[in-house]
Amino acid sequence: MKPIKAQISGVGKYAPEKVLSNLDLEKMVDTNDEWISSRTGIKRRHIAADNETTSTMAAEAGRKAIENAGLKPEDIEMVIVASLSPDMMFPASACLVQDILKLPKAGTVDVSAACSGFVYAFSMAAGYIAMGLHKNVLVIGSEVMSRFVDWKDRNTCVLFGDGAGAVVLSAVDQNSPSEVIDFILGGDGSGGDQLSLPAGGSKMPATHETVDQGMHYLKMAGNNVFKFAVRTMTDITVEILNRNNLTADKVKLVVPHQANFRINDAVRERLGMTEAQMFNNIFEYGNTSGATIPLGLAEAVEQNLLKRGDYVIFVSFGGGFTWGVSLIKW
Ligand code: UT7
Repeated sequence: MKPIKAQISGVGKYAPEKVLSNLDLEKMVDTNDEWISSRTGIKRRHIAADNETTSTMAAEAGRKAIENAGLKPEDIEMVIVASLSPDMMFPASACLVQDILKLPKAGTVDVSAACSGFVYAFSMAAGYIAMGLHKNVLVIGSEVMSRFVDWKDRNTCVLFGDGAGAVVLSAVDQNSPSEVIDFILGGDGSGGDQLSLPAGGSKMPATHETVDQGMHYLKMAGNNVFKFAVRTMTDITVEILNRNNLTADKVKLVVPHQANFRINDAVRERLGMTEAQMFNNIFEYGNTSGATIPLGLAEAVEQNLLKRGDYVIFVSFGGGFTWGVSLIKW
C-alpha cells in the first residue's frame, strides 16, 4: 500500500496576555537584562493568567488551526497534545481540549517527550494519515512552564515562558506539492537527570518533604544541555538532508526549538545557513518547551515567509534526552 500524503492545512497560536520582561525579573531575582539578553536572546516571556491552563491555551491555538484549515470540529479525527506541563497526570490534556472544542469524532492522546514533544506528535499524526487511519489530525504543543519553574532560581526561571501552537495535518492528493517527507527521532535516557522534574510521579510521590525541597520544579544542568543541543540538532539536520539528497541551501526555513538564541545560531553556522533561513522568536516568548515549534511556525506563516513547495525543517532536542527532526514541503 502506498503511504497517503499529508500536508499542514492550518496553523494557530496562543500566547497569554501578561508579559514578564527581563526588567521585571530584575526585581524578582539576582539577574539583569544584559545577562539574560546576551546569554539567551530572551527579552520577554508570556505568563498564563490564573484561570489559564495548558489545555485552555492548547484549545485556543487548536481552534485557530481548525479555522485556518477551513475545517469544522467534526472533521478532526484525532487530537495529540505534546506537553511537559499537562493540566494533571491524567486525564490527558488532549481529552480536555476535545471537550473544550467539542470535537465529536476525535481520539485523544498526550505525548511526553519534553521539548521534542511536538516533533514526536507530528510524526504520529503523519503516520496515522499515511496508513489511511485518519484524514485530519490536530497536533498541539502547549505549556504553562511558569507553574513548574522555581521563581527563586535565577539559573532556570529567566529561561521559560508560556504559550501554545497548533497545526492541522490533513491527507492530500498524491499530486500535491505539499507533503511530509521524513523524520528522525531519537532518545537517550542516560541523560535524564540533566533536565527533569523529579517529584510528583510514582518514583517520588508528592509529600511535604518533596514540596519543601522544591522537587516539583524543573531542574537543569544548563551547560551540558547546551552542548548536547548544538551537536544533536546539527547532526540530525545534516542526516535528514543527506538521506533526502538535499543541501542546506535548498531549505527555505528551519523552525527550531527555541531554548537559547546562541544554540540556534551555532547550529545555523555549522549548517552553513543564512540568518534568514533560521526562524527565531525566543526574544518574545522565551523557551515554551513543546510549544516553540508550532508557535514559531504560526508566526512564520503570519509573516508570509513560506510558499507552497518550500522545504521546511522542524528540529528539536530536550529532556529525556529526546530529539527529533522533520522535513516537509510546505
Ligand atoms: O529546552 C531545552 C532545555 N534548555 C536548554 O537547552 C538550555 C541550555 N542551556 C543554556 O541555554 C545555557 O547553558 C544557560 C542560558 C542556561 C546558561 O548560560 P551559560 O552561558 O551556559 O552560563 P553558565 O551556566 O556557565 O553560568 C555563567 C554564570 C554563572 O556565574 P559564575 O559561576 O560564572 O559566577 C551563573 O551563576 O552566570 C550566572 N548566572 C546568572 N547570572 C545572572 C546564571 N543564571 C544567571 C542569571 N542572571 N539569570
